Amino acid sequence: MQHEAQNEILDEILASSSLEELQTVKTKYLGKNGLVTSQLKEMGKLSPEERKAKGAEINALKTSLEGAVEARKEVLEQAALEAKLHSEAIDVTLPALHFPVGGLHIISRILADLEGMFGRLGYRTVLGQEVEDDLHNFDALNIPWFHPARDLWDTFWMTDGRLLRTHTSPMQIRYMLEHTAPLRITVPGKVYRYEATDATHESMFHQLEGLLVGDNIRMSDLKGTIAEIARGLFGPSTKVRFQPSYYPFVEPGADFSVWWENPRGESKWLELGGCGMVHPSVFRAVDDLREALGKPRTYEGKTGFAFGLGAERIAMLKYGIPDIRYFYQNDLKVLGQFRGELETLSILEAL
Ligand code: DAH
Repeated sequence: MQHEAQNEILDEILASSSLEELQTVKTKYLGKNGLVTSQLKEMGKLSPEERKAKGAEINALKTSLEGAVEARKEVLEQAALEAKLHSEAIDVTLPALHFPVGGLHIISRILADLEGMFGRLGYRTVLGQEVEDDLHNFDALNIPWFHPARDLWDTFWMTDGRLLRTHTSPMQIRYMLEHTAPLRITVPGKVYRYEATDATHESMFHQLEGLLVGDNIRMSDLKGTIAEIARGLFGPSTKVRFQPSYYPFVEPGADFSVWWENPRGESKWLELGGCGMVHPSVFRAVDDLREALGKPRTYEGKTGFAFGLGAERIAMLKYGIPDIRYFYQNDLKVLGQFRGELETLSILEAL
């Protein structure tokens, strides 16, 4: 084969721009039916001298073409690798993707905080039931059916005579039926009131009930406990005030407030809940029920205190939320503000 023809083939090899194209060119000349191969096959027809000269020529051509194909292959493979690396490159300077994960509802956080604080004071968390009966929600708490104090709790009655608990206090009764003093419990949970909704009233909200029973428990123990919790919630210098109040299940009874230092200067006392010393009638009712269940009367002569905190009220105070209805409209723009930093993980932190 002439020199020009060889150069043309070499050009063709060099011009192939992909491995597939190169393969096609290779097959065309060096494949089983390729031009070079078929020339070799035809050598049988030549005389021995011609065959020798021609053979050397074709073999040289073949070697040179094979070398060129190999060289081109390496170049194309390198280019393909670089293209792949380039297309798969990661820009480590791009901002990380944020995957927002759900957070605890602000009320759950308040209740969890309270549980932690009371836990450190030795209180055990117990849960009551939301569908209650008259006996536990009212009667045993010294609120007989004819007592005008029943009007303090607007009640959702069910057709079977049961009711949605209007406070977490019924769990005081249920717990004392099963346990003897000394005891210390808190009861977080939902309560229901048959009321018109406005900025400070919802028909469902959350309370945290507390009950401590033992020997020689005094009002000062109650005040110290409430003050400790108020300071845990609002800071160590929080001022707490107790004012006489009436709840049938305590005597004396009180409402407690914290002094709210508002940055705009509208500071005032804001009420957090009610409390008092457990009324002897409550202990008597518990002992009567225990007796009816065949259990010993163990509460006579005991002393204790009880309190009820409103979780929404605490959240509204702590975060300056003006309307209780925001909690349950479930607008993520509102709830997201109180979710807390920790619950938003970036992809890098998550890895
Ligand atoms: N149960 C009361 C309410 O819902 C709150 C309360 C007041 C609870 C005084 C108590 C207490 O345990 O001692 O309005």
